[in-house]
Order: sequence, then C-alpha cells, then structure tokens
Amino acid sequence: MSTPIDFNDRMLSLGLARVAEQAAIASADWIGRGDEKAADQAAVNAMREQLNQLDIKGVVVIGEGERDEAPMLYIGEEVGTGDGPGVDIALDPLEGTTLTAKDMPNALTVIAMGPRGSMLHAPDTYMEKLAIGPGYEDGVVTLDMSPAERVTALAAAKGCDATDITVCILERPRHEAMIAEVRATGAGIRLITDGDVAGVMHCAEPEVTGIDMYMGTGGAPEGVLAAAALKCMGGQIYGRLVFRNEDEKARASKAGITDFDRVYARDEMVTADVIFAATGVTGGSLLPRLNKEVGWTTTETLLMRSKTGSVRRMVYRNPTE
Ligand code: FBP
Repeated sequence: MSTPIDFNDRMLSLGLARVAEQAAIASADWIGRGDEKAADQAAVNAMREQLNQLDIKGVVVIGEGERDEAPMLYIGEEVGTGDGPGVDIALDPLEGTTLTAKDMPNALTVIAMGPRGSMLHAPDTYMEKLAIGPGYEDGVVTLDMSPAERVTALAAAKGCDATDITVCILERPRHEAMIAEVRATGAGIRLITDGDVAGVMHCAEPEVTGIDMYMGTGGAPEGVLAAAALKCMGGQIYGRLVFRNEDEKARASKAGITDFDRVYARDEMVTADVIFAATGVTGGSLLPRLNKEVGWTTTETLLMRSKTGSVRRMVYRNPTE
C-alpha cells in the first residue's frame, strides 16, 4: 500500500484562497441583479473550476446538495487533480444568495478543507446553533439553557450586565419567541436576514463586530462551515440537528448519523485541523465588499489555519479579461 500524502495545510491554504477569490469575482456581475440562482451558479462554476486545479484527492462533504438535486459540487463529488493528499471539503460557493441578489451586507464565498474524515457529514437539514467567541470556559452557555439564561450566563462570564451583551439572530418567524425573550433581558439583538456563517464568525471578534453571541436555527451545512471558521479563530459553537419530516431523518441516516438528538460541539463537527477561506462579496464588518473598477476587480480574502491560528487577509487586484 502506498504511504498517504500529508495534508500540507500551509501550502494548500494559498490555493484555497484562490478558490474563494474566483468564486467571489464570478458572482460580482450578479450583485443587486435580483437573480439568486444565476449568482449562485456563477460562484459554483468558478469554485469547481479552481478546485479541480488543486493537487488534491478531494471529496465534497458539505456541498450544494445531494447528487440528484445538485449537478455540481454535490455531496460526494470528487474534485482536484487526484495527485495529492486525500481531503474533505466543505463549501458554500455563495453564502447569502439572496443578500447578493438584493445587494445587502455580508454575502461571502466560503470553503474549508481538512484531512479525510475531519468534518461532520451534516445532511441538508436545519441545525439549532449557539456560538460565542474565544476566552470563555467550555460550556459557559449551552443549547439546553433558555435564551435568557444564555444571556445571563455570558454576561456573568464577561463581567458585564445583560444590557452590554449583543446577540445575533436570523430574522425568521420561528425565532419570534427567542427574540422576545432575549429582548426582555435588556440585551441588544442584531437581526440578520440571511448568512449565519458570517453571523457566527462575528462572535470571534466582538471588539470589531460588536456581537457577543449567535443563536438560532439555520442550515446544518452552514453550521459545520461556521465550526471550521471558529476552530481557526477561536470560540465555541454547539449544534443540534433539527428535522421537519421523515425525509430529513432519512437524509441524516444516509449521512451516517444515528443519534438524532446529539449536541455537537465545535471539535465534534470538525475533528482535525482545517484551513478556511472566505472572500467578501457584499461588504460587512468581517470583510469588505469586492470592488469592480474599469479593468480590475479587487477582493479581500480571510485565510486561516486552525493548526497555528494564523490569520491572513489577502487583497487581490485581478485584471478583468
Ligand atoms: P443561501 O446562501 O444558501 O441562500 O443560505 C442563506 C442562509 O441564510 C444561511 O446562512 C442560513 O443557514 C440559511 O439560509 C437559513 O435558512 P432559511 O432561509 O430556510 O431560514
């Protein structure tokens, strides 16, 4: 048997930045054009084309959906040249398709890569999520606490009042009771209309973003991507899958999940060191908006490695063909 090739995270991360950049550049023409599908397709095509130039034996574990509903970057699709280490890839070529179509803040292209078996194969269902930034004891807030208890516990750990805490929540009817309960504590709420990967990532840099905690239910694939980001940036995230019907449970079983009530901590969703890249499409507090000028498109990419905790910000001026 041949010796497996090491996951050379340092060099591979530079290639990963290019994958995220090119997906963002491809979506640029679709910002504010009201067409989510076209924006997403442009990013998918570009991400796939770039991934296939990397020297990896890659498998998409978090992707655009199941094979029968996603012609490209579907779960299980093999990508890369086939020469190189076996890797798992989690991606969302355009996280915030509606944000892009409506030109609203915080749309990103997102991709994470780790050695084979390093990421939870989350089915395309919902996940209840709870995240905070670095510097707190494990389990200072939990999914079993009520929303108000989480605010009180975090304020005590931070040494401040509940009124000094800001929570990020997706604005959805399913979160109305949660929003009311958090408001009753006196905490502030930053409501977002989409894009909870960015929502969770905001918790890692509260001094920059003003957000201390993320809570609520969103996509399970986005939960694993957010866990990969926090593994690099620091911080805690907990996730529990939410099923709306038997079909969704069947999807989870197919992905190898047997305990439907399990709470996954960050390092159970992402079990080995990973690399993570995100490029800003529309601007937000994490990444600026890409900038289209005559002859150039400029992007900024956040590139991180969990092994070292290194964080790079790469500004790329790409000549338009
Ligand atoms: P897309 O980029 O695939 O459109 O997802 C956006 C998003 O807001 C995610 O960030 C979030 O996890 C999910 O959708 C929430 O789902 P829903 O819109 O069904 O509440």
